[in-house]
Amino acid sequence: MNTTIELLSNHTTIRSFTNQPLTEEQREAIFKAANQTSSFSLLQAVSIIRITDPDLRKKVMELSANQPYIEEAAEFWIFCADFNRNHQIAPNVDLEYIEYLLIGTFDAGLMAQNALTAAESMGLGGVYIGGVRLHITELTEVLHLPKHVIPLVGLCIGHPAGENPGLKPRLPQSMVMFDNQYQPLDEETLATYDQQMREYYRERPVKAPFTVKKVKGWKDHIEDHLERSKLPFMLEYLNKQGFAKK
Ligand SMILES: Cc1cc2nc3c(=O)[nH]c(=O)nc-3n(C[C@H](O)[C@H](O)[C@H](O)COP(=O)(O)O)c2cc1C
Repeated sequence: MNTTIELLSNHTTIRSFTNQPLTEEQREAIFKAANQTSSFSLLQAVSIIRITDPDLRKKVMELSANQPYIEEAAEFWIFCADFNRNHQIAPNVDLEYIEYLLIGTFDAGLMAQNALTAAESMGLGGVYIGGVRLHITELTEVLHLPKHVIPLVGLCIGHPAGENPGLKPRLPQSMVMFDNQYQPLDEETLATYDQQMREYYRERPVKAPFTVKKVKGWKDHIEDHLERSKLPFMLEYLNKQGFAKK
């Protein structure tokens, strides 16, 4: 095993940070690594809003289910799909096709992951904040995002505090990677994984603000989180920002 594979295979989300800031060198190294990420047709349709203003950080936290680590982390970056830059260069291109949303979302996700991996490689830790989309219209206003820019995910980065939470079990390879053609769900393998997750959750109950009533295993988790992740206002919001009209 090499050090990159070791790092990736030991990934675990960190939700507790000391108040030690990152050095400028660390911050720049993370940005540089993230900015070199592959980009669809080199459109580079991503912008990062780094939230340094404490009042704004608090406001974003409130808009993102009050997750305390948004305020506590040394760094908080919001990754946005950004076609505003491209639009200024090529104003006659119709950006209302849904493919642009896929391109921007994919590029932003890849870039965010490279930022997190770069941070982890330096002994730092982080947590993504999909919760930034819970009040996306208000967040868009607060960040002064123009048309063709949408905030997709936040990333808290900092020095880990407390114990390492340990690896969260993932689905086995047979359920995730198929040779040549898709395979139906194997109930027996699923039951084994569900049992593994029951044990994981028993040892580490979900903490506020994500207290859930009866999460026992992965199947319960899926039912609960699928239901809560609908965000029915999203299509209207995307259309307003100039995305996904056709
Ligand atoms: C796009 C995305 C959004 C996420 N949003 C949140 C979030 O808002 N709050 C949070 O505590 N964790 C969030 N997470 C972290 C996941 O809960 C975490 O990655 C998952 O439970 C697996 O745990 P692990 O990363 O420790 O292996 C998010 C992860 C991703 C990829």
